[in-house]
Amino acid sequence: MKFLKFNSRDLGIDLGTANILVSISNKGIIFREPSVVAVKKETEEVVAYGIEAKEMLGRTPETINAIRPLKDGVIADFTATKLMLRSIIMKVTKDFKLLKPRVVIGVPSGITEVEERAVQEAAISSGAREVYLIEEPMAAAIGSGIKIEEPSGNMIVDIGGGTTEVAVISLGGMVTSTSLRIAGDELTEDIINYTKKYLNMAIGEVTAEEIKMEIGCALPFMTELKKVIRGRDLSTGLPVKKEISSLEVEKAMKDSINKIIEGIRATLEVTPPELASDIVVNRNSFSRWWSINKKFG
Ligand SMILES: Nc1ncnc2c1ncn2[C@@H]1O[C@H](COP(=O)(O)OP(=O)(O)OP(=O)(O)O)[C@@H](O)[C@H]1O
Ligand SMILES: [Mg+2]
Repeated sequence: MKFLKFNSRDLGIDLGTANILVSISNKGIIFREPSVVAVKKETEEVVAYGIEAKEMLGRTPETINAIRPLKDGVIADFTATKLMLRSIIMKVTKDFKLLKPRVVIGVPSGITEVEERAVQEAAISSGAREVYLIEEPMAAAIGSGIKIEEPSGNMIVDIGGGTTEVAVISLGGMVTSTSLRIAGDELTEDIINYTKKYLNMAIGEVTAEEIKMEIGCALPFMTELKKVIRGRDLSTGLPVKKEISSLEVEKAMKDSINKIIEGIRATLEVTPPELASDIVVNRNSFSRWWSINKKFG
């Protein structure tokens, strides 16, 4: 993988559905903010991006559009992606003088050729000199310190915002992989639907995500957690405050989580037996990494 031996002017970009991360070799991650951009409707001028734009979601006046330009891990709004990328590349390369950066971008393993071209074009038109794509599970494996070149199987499960990537890696390549378009955003959506159906209240995406992060669980906690949430009563239309428990959140997300587990099982089923047994042996080092990086994704 020669292209990873970058000089200091080269960037690594994780263009995620939920968050965008930029790293420079030798310096590590220099930018980590939500993948959101706020644009003036008439002039396409970028008003804000990242954290500032996320705070504007659902709160903009008529003249401004706050957009999450990526959906299911790929570009859903090309213009907005380009504008967001350009602003970020300009910010992080402002000291680069004349030389345009070379860029490596992580993409979901299930991406189509058309989607690949869209990512490449967005980076080129944002000021990149050359663009290389790397499949996200490979990037995740390298980032987690797995010795990818060894003839030993390791499984990567990356639950992002839009996609869950499941891959088995050995000898520097992906042996089997599955890219599911069910991930964190779907779990947030499940919570919104649950409160509508069982608590008769409408809540926003930000509230639902907070619920997920604070009391969400795939298996019931030993002690049930509770959270007071605010939303709109669906019968009266008025603001309302109610309580939701971790058990309810677990129930809300169960179907989606089962689909993710099914994806992992299906990937294991098509993994050659030698590698499948490596994964069982290697799993401790992976879960150690997982607990260090106490983040979903
Ligand atoms: N503590 C947490 N508990 C549960 N979910 C979390 C937690 N922290 C973050 N998330 C969820 O993880 C998702 C974001 O993960 P990540 O930043 O890896 O996604 P991404 O790389 O932008 O997306 P993708 O790879 O699908 O394009 C969001 O849905 C967010 O709500
Ligand atoms: Mg990701």
